Amino acid sequence: MDKLHITGGKPLCGELRISGAKNAALPILAGALLSEAPVTIGNVPHLHDITTTMELLGRMGVQLVVDEKLNIEVDSSSIQNFYAPYELVKTMRASILVLGPLLSRFGRAEVSLPGGCAIGTRPVNLHLQGLAAMGADINVRNGYIHAVAKRLKGCRLVLDQVTVTGTENLMMAAALAEGKTVIENAAREPEVIDLANFLNQLGAQVRGAGTGILEIEGVESLDRPGRHYNILPDRIETGTYLVAAAMTGGRVKLKNARPALLDAVLVKLRAAGAEIRVGENWIELDMHGRRPCSVSIRTAPYPAFPTDMQAQFIAMNAIAEGVGIITETVFENRFMHVQEMQRMGADIKLESNTAIVKGIPWLTAAPVMATDLRASACLVLAGLVAEGKTVIERIYHIDRGYECIEEKLSQLGAEIRRIPH
Ligand code: EPZ
Repeated sequence: MDKLHITGGKPLCGELRISGAKNAALPILAGALLSEAPVTIGNVPHLHDITTTMELLGRMGVQLVVDEKLNIEVDSSSIQNFYAPYELVKTMRASILVLGPLLSRFGRAEVSLPGGCAIGTRPVNLHLQGLAAMGADINVRNGYIHAVAKRLKGCRLVLDQVTVTGTENLMMAAALAEGKTVIENAAREPEVIDLANFLNQLGAQVRGAGTGILEIEGVESLDRPGRHYNILPDRIETGTYLVAAAMTGGRVKLKNARPALLDAVLVKLRAAGAEIRVGENWIELDMHGRRPCSVSIRTAPYPAFPTDMQAQFIAMNAIAEGVGIITETVFENRFMHVQEMQRMGADIKLESNTAIVKGIPWLTAAPVMATDLRASACLVLAGLVAEGKTVIERIYHIDRGYECIEEKLSQLGAEIRRIPH
């Protein structure tokens, strides 16, 4: 398994282009199953999770053609089966996103239960309850979800917890259902809006994306001639590189970004002492060589502070001036990075779902292990400021969500190398 070697102490300076959003590309690739005509999806990030999704669709008999710009044409006209096997689903929980489209368009699906992961049990009960309410016959046995439906019927769904992929699965199921579906307490994430925009471009009738109340008028089919859809920029990749610059006292300009998607994060970076300028599709952060001040955050569904940025702010608070209180309200076990940070000298105390981080001037390099995607980002950030060479193991986690991370960080002046094993 590859490792990353990072020698800390270099301020990050320069420009970067932000990639397309992983968490928009995954539901949109699944949503392409709804289309009668081939669709082309652009600005897709080159990530392991994307490769897994393409393999999953390919095994169903979906035709996928990738051009030199990594645009992906998806043609589901020759689909042969509606099966998502455990061997793929266990490597990428988001495979559950094929359930809604398969049921809605083909009336059947056999999808492995995703199971939990490092950050939590990750149940999918709200996905299944919603589909059952729409008339699907759902049986869970031998670790698989066996679902059939003559034709899903629209209805009013009230989600008792905000769920991003749950909202996305039910939106896609409703797109071809009979009649109108209303989803209340829907997730408002930008990636949910991107999926709605994609489906509407195919001819779906999704209204209210981003407001918390979705209204979807089912249509007979999505057969508009194949169109091209570009994925929105990745707000979490953007936030991660902004934190990297803030921690190292550097100055970066991120292009192909969308500042409007990061309000809650930019507020906290400014509170940490960063000077931030924004344009419509770029963000510039200048730390003027200063050490950041500690900030306190509480994660919650969009538009509040994103849980996917929590680990990165643990890293920043670890070397900031002062004490920062970080409360995680979305997942029950999303502090796996803390014990690894403590091995680098961080002064962090955990009390239930809260981390109390007392900033120290510098961390010391150590061999550490990535446990999940954003935890590995935290360790990379810590390595950028630690004294000495930090070696990060199990970096396959980071390859799931960050396109060419060592190239991008090297471009900003970091001393980072991938050591193949
Ligand atoms: C999505 O996961 C993202 N993944 C996650 O990003 C992100 O952290 C999360 O949303 C929250 O923003 C993708 O979009 C592919 P949830 P998802 O359903 O949809 C509970 C990353 O780092 N819940 O919004 O799986 C659940 O246990 C990944 O890129 C139920 O109880 O998260 C959690 O406590 C990590 N029952 C809360 O809701 C359900 O049926 C939010 O989970 C569904 C969810």
